[in-house]
Amino acid sequence: MKNLDRISRRGLLGTSLVLVPAALAATLSPAGTALADALCALTSPQGEGPFYPARFGKPGNDLFLGGAGGKPPDGDAIVVSGKVTDAKCRPAAGVLVEIWQADRQGRYQHPRGQAGPRDPHFAYWGMALTDAKGVYRFRTIFPGAYGGGSFQRTPHIHVKVRQNGRLVLTTQMYFPGHPLNSQDFLFSGVPSAERHTVIAVEERGGGSGAPTAFRFDIAVS
Ligand SMILES: [Fe+2]
Repeated sequence: MKNLDRISRRGLLGTSLVLVPAALAATLSPAGTALADALCALTSPQGEGPFYPARFGKPGNDLFLGGAGGKPPDGDAIVVSGKVTDAKCRPAAGVLVEIWQADRQGRYQHPRGQAGPRDPHFAYWGMALTDAKGVYRFRTIFPGAYGGGSFQRTPHIHVKVRQNGRLVLTTQMYFPGHPLNSQDFLFSGVPSAERHTVIAVEERGGGSGAPTAFRFDIAVS
């Protein structure tokens, strides 16, 4: 898989993973000064779901061109990036962030996944290490919805975060304002006070051919 950040498997395994929480939500005083005790709301956990990969492809953070043949998959390219912090908004460097998701047709690459053909040009899973500022970045596609009725799933991306080799968070990222969000039984199950922690922020449109970018900051304890 092409790796946007040139992260190698050897590099990942050889890195001492130090979790770092980072933070976007620095609390500001009325005068705009960051408070020393600024807090970042911890990201609400979500279930892993039934489609965590049974086998993994090449590690990398480019799911868009990470499939077979180096050709673009079906779907709209997006960039998902953010900062990992602790509850005090201190950035966490060297944290391993994994994502996995459905393709445009709402299918996972998993033995128990939905019926129908998979997209050979899509990677379905990827990983990235946060940099010194706690920032990670992926290129992927906007995932398709799946299910229906009482099991409606709105478009989402599954996320795992590991610090020092320890799993510290499993959650799911949702897209702001998507019309299916309110029909999704898992999204609706997130306590309303925590829901903002699992919704990405759209940073810019896809003008001039650039993929739409979403920021998903993650705070872990
Ligand atoms: Fe899912």
